[in-house]
Amino acid sequence: MARRTLIAGNWKMNGSVSSLDFFDAIAPAARNSQAEILICPPSTLLYQAAQACAGSGIRVGGQDCHARQSGAHTGDISAPMLREAGASHVIVGHSERRADHGETDALVRAKSEAALEAGLVPVICVGETREEREAGRAVEVVASQLAGSLPEKSRDMPLVIAYEPVWAIGTGLTASVDDVANMHSAIRQCLPDPLTTCILYGGSVKPGNAADLLGLDDVDGALVGGASLKSIDFSAIIAAVSRKSEPLR
Ligand code: 13P
Repeated sequence: MARRTLIAGNWKMNGSVSSLDFFDAIAPAARNSQAEILICPPSTLLYQAAQACAGSGIRVGGQDCHARQSGAHTGDISAPMLREAGASHVIVGHSERRADHGETDALVRAKSEAALEAGLVPVICVGETREEREAGRAVEVVASQLAGSLPEKSRDMPLVIAYEPVWAIGTGLTASVDDVANMHSAIRQCLPDPLTTCILYGGSVKPGNAADLLGLDDVDGALVGGASLKSIDFSAIIAAVSRKSEPLR
C-alpha cells in the first residue's frame, strides 16, 4: 500500500482568532496537492479551526493530550475532548514537552494509546540532542525512544512518526539529506508496519529545503513549526510535494 504524503503544521503556543484566515489562504495549495494537510493550532483555537477548514480537506489536530480519557487533571486536555473539537490527529512526545514537562517514553506511550482509543492518529515525535548526535548515538537514542513510546499494540494501527532532531528545531539548522535518509531508514526498521507507516521529518523545514527533504524515499512528509505560521511559506512547502511526485525525466 502506498504511503500518502502528510504535511503537518505545529503552531506551538502561537496564533489567535485572527490567525484563522490562514485556512483560506492555504486552501488553494491544499486543493492542488495530493498530500494530506494537517494543522495543529493551540487547543483554544481547535474548534474554530476545524470549522474554518470544514469541507476543504484540511485536517486539524492537537499538540498534546493527557494519557487518561477524563478525570481530576486540572489544566489538561484529553484525547476524546480533542476529537470532539474536530481533531483527527494529536502530536505526542514533542521534544519541547519532553524537555519542558519531563515527559518520559512511558508517558508518551500512554498518550499514544489514549489517542488511538479516542479515534485519533498519534503523531509520535522522536529525535536526538546535539550531544547525542555528536557522540554517534543518534540512531541508538531514537530507536530506544521508539521502543518505549510506540503503543503496546501498534501493528495495523494508524500511527505517524515524526523524526525531529532537537538541535534542528527552531534553529535554522537542518539535518543533512544523508543523515535524514539514514535515520528514516533506521526508524522504518524499528516499526511493526514498516511499509505502511508514515514517517515525517521536522526541524527548520522551509520552502527552500522542503523539496530536497521530501524527495527522500523514506520521508513521507514534514512536521513544520515556524514556517507553518506564514501561509505563503506553508503553501510553498505544500507545493514542494508535487515536485516529489513528479516523474523523473
Ligand atoms: P521548526 O520548524 O520551527 O524548526 O519546528 C519544528 C517543530 O518542532 C515541529 O514540531
